[in-house]
Amino acid sequence: MIFRISAAAGTGDLERACAQVLRLHAATSERLPFYGEFYRRIFAVTGAPASILDVASGLNPFSLPWMKLKALTAYIACDIDRAQVACVNGFLPLMGLPPPAKLQDVICKPPRDAVQVALVLKALPVLEQQERGCSERLLLGLNAGFLVVSFPLYSLGSRSKGMVRHPL
Ligand SMILES: C[S@@+](CC[C@H](N)C(=O)[O-])C[C@H]1O[C@@H](n2cnc3c(N)ncnc32)[C@H](O)[C@@H]1O
Repeated sequence: MIFRISAAAGTGDLERACAQVLRLHAATSERLPFYGEFYRRIFAVTGAPASILDVASGLNPFSLPWMKLKALTAYIACDIDRAQVACVNGFLPLMGLPPPAKLQDVICKPPRDAVQVALVLKALPVLEQQERGCSERLLLGLNAGFLVVSFPLYSLGSRSKGMVRHPL
């Protein structure tokens, strides 16, 4: 797969190759139809960031082609899943982006990197299952100009999580 993305880098096929990876995980797969709109709306608020932290990133870094960020110099991804981190580490250099993704338990070692935008997408319920109350500590500790936090509306078994009605 990385070979295919490598060949596609710089061509119109890059999004198609990355979409194949994004389809492998439920979280990224369901965002696939609207990734372009998703980032367009976020960056309309935050401005086009030069640095992004992706907390418990999973495969989300493969959505970089939809971000359309010309001045991005740092994309710091971290996740506890070794296979996903290895996959992302094969991909980021193809996008010309150091530093590598980090294999990191963000509960034990919350990221402290200074960035313009931190993405915390569908991660908090998973983290709360491991340590109740850790979300607040994690979010308050992030060193980011903007926090972008999302929650799943449905469980993997299609049960509603009641998030639409949840008062923020
Ligand atoms: C529901 S997925 C969301 C992935 C990604 N943020 C997205 O929305 O596409 C949750 C992610 O959290 C990661 N994760 C779970 N526990 C973690 C921990 N303690 N530290 C870092 N990552 C963790 C999992 O490996 C998985 O990639």
